Amino acid sequence: PRSFYFSRHGESVYNLQGKIGGDSDISPRGEAFAKRLPGLIKDNLGVETRLTVWTSTLKRTRQTAAFMEWPQVQWKQLDELDSGVCDGMTYEEIEVRFPNDYLERDEDKYNYRYHGGESYRDLVQRLEPIILELERHHEPDHSIMIVGHQAVLRAIYAYFLNYSLEELPYIKIPLHAVVKLTPKAYGCLEERFTVDI
Ligand code: F6P
Repeated sequence: PRSFYFSRHGESVYNLQGKIGGDSDISPRGEAFAKRLPGLIKDNLGVETRLTVWTSTLKRTRQTAAFMEWPQVQWKQLDELDSGVCDGMTYEEIEVRFPNDYLERDEDKYNYRYHGGESYRDLVQRLEPIILELERHHEPDHSIMIVGHQAVLRAIYAYFLNYSLEELPYIKIPLHAVVKLTPKAYGCLEERFTVDI
């Protein structure tokens, strides 16, 4: 496509509570972001005349995309990193209940796999079909927007901007911001649009 647009879902109830994973709704602030999103994208579209919006199957991305009138596709592969037995916990709770895991993850965040869940390495593998699909899209007038999750967007962003696997789990992907990447002959042009709400 012409460009790729990436955004995390709007603030969720779990984000407010500091809990990871889950399938919570977006908060009123998250909904305010969702309502601003169509205008923000329209204002920043380039030569492309078509846009397809990809979301995960989780409520927070679908709710964030709800006000966008472009065609939408849901991908299970775009669901957030599966935190297994830690799903729904805060980082403080994880530190108390699984102190060794907490340290292990700190030492090697890319390879650490949650019990009953995934590592960043697993996630990168799961996202391969998504990356292939993005690479296959070559219509110059057609862009893709992904409304995704923190870990998932780190992996996709790292792929396009050639971050190392060690850096990948620490890339900052803020809430309520849209990253636009436009592939060029060498590398990608990056633009960022933030929304104050
Ligand atoms: O807190 C939001 C979230 O998307 C969690 O669902 C997910 O486990 C986490 O971020 C990923 O970030 P990190 O790998 O830094 O814990």
